[in-house]
Amino acid sequence: MDSWEKLKQECLACRRCGLCETRTHVVFGEGPQDAEVMFIGEGPGEQEDLSGRPFVGRGGKLLDDMLELIDLSREKVFIGNMVKCRPPRNRTPEPDEIAACLPFLRAQTALIRPQIIVLLGATALRAVLGPQMRITRDRGRWVERKGVWMMPMFHPAALLRDESKKRPTWDDLRQVRDKLEALHG
Ligand code: URA
Repeated sequence: MDSWEKLKQECLACRRCGLCETRTHVVFGEGPQDAEVMFIGEGPGEQEDLSGRPFVGRGGKLLDDMLELIDLSREKVFIGNMVKCRPPRNRTPEPDEIAACLPFLRAQTALIRPQIIVLLGATALRAVLGPQMRITRDRGRWVERKGVWMMPMFHPAALLRDESKKRPTWDDLRQVRDKLEALHG
């Protein structure tokens, strides 16, 4: 079994936090193991919990459209979450749940070695870059960490609730497209 498959098996059997008690499926994430771009959301919702796949509900449909806007698709990027199991009633994951799950995301990132990580929403932004971060203030601004470019962006669910967040998000997506082009030289 290769390291990726080993990590996946470990994750699928995980009981490191209380979310394992109520989950239907662990949502490990999906996409190529050599993806140049990773999109990181908060955690599985109902449809994701039932299917075991990330971003398959309404927000997922919108994420597909967002990818298409910059000539990307699910087949080209890795899509994952801060926590791999659904928080009951879609509540925000607790800090101890995020801490318990973070090693899986770190291991995924170490194996994929993406050039760009898009942090979707406040939970992913603050868990990865620190609690001082604010999504409304910090979205659209690149942060570089150990050679990886990180772009905080509104979560698709926020766009569904508030249409006015779409236009700035298209700008942020275009920055991702431009950065990919620049990295390709
Ligand atoms: N919202 C998320 O943050 N992740 C999913 O996988 C689905 C909805």
